[in-house]
Amino acid sequence: MKNIPTPHINAPEGAFARTVLMPGDPLRSKFIAERYLENAQLVNNVRGVQGYTGEYKGKKVSVMASGMGMPAIGIYSYELFNFYGVENIIRVGTAGALSPKLKLRDVVAGMSAYTDSNYGHELGYQGNLAPCCSYELLRAATDAADRLGTHVVPGPVCSHDNFYGQGDYSSTPVLQKLGVLCVEMEAYALYLNAAAAGKNALALLTISDSLVTGESLPAEERQTSFTKMMEIALEIA
Ligand code: HPA
Repeated sequence: MKNIPTPHINAPEGAFARTVLMPGDPLRSKFIAERYLENAQLVNNVRGVQGYTGEYKGKKVSVMASGMGMPAIGIYSYELFNFYGVENIIRVGTAGALSPKLKLRDVVAGMSAYTDSNYGHELGYQGNLAPCCSYELLRAATDAADRLGTHVVPGPVCSHDNFYGQGDYSSTPVLQKLGVLCVEMEAYALYLNAAAAGKNALALLTISDSLVTGESLPAEERQTSFTKMMEIALEIA
């Protein structure tokens, strides 16, 4: 483990659990640690990207923010998988619905991730890469949702690079026609890094707004609406 600490994570070897939950927002990482983990210790705070390790129902679990977008989650997931021995990363984030069947607060499990990004080009493959989630994590998530009396909606998601792109050059109708459930900005890079490292990843996404109806969750509700997704993620950690 001679690569640690890394330029972005100053934690010692063994600081992270086998499974790391990754919200985008550093303050949400703190919130999750304080609300759900026992004996949570701050293990990273480089650039304010807070990472904690604690226990959930007696099991060691970590939570660390990914920042927004594929370059950011690309850095943190690469370092966790390749230098810190992390086996599973579960993204816990928000997404905009493309499917008219999705309602605000629904939880999507990204089975595969499409993208308009060039993130995967670095790997040198001439075709288009189609990374997918871990089957084991997905199955565990749907089982956990059943046990908790709730449900997740599994299906393809699209990770885009330009949050404001839809307005000017929308690919929304094509994605909808192809059955893509929602858009967000990180799953593709996370799944590709997991595949390249031989590790496991899953993106659980709470629908915070809809590109179909234009509705969005009020700011104060964004935090509470996460409960369902967080409980599923913690159950499978
Ligand atoms: N795009 C559109 N809506 C969203 C996104 C996104 O990346 N994330 C959450 N809502």
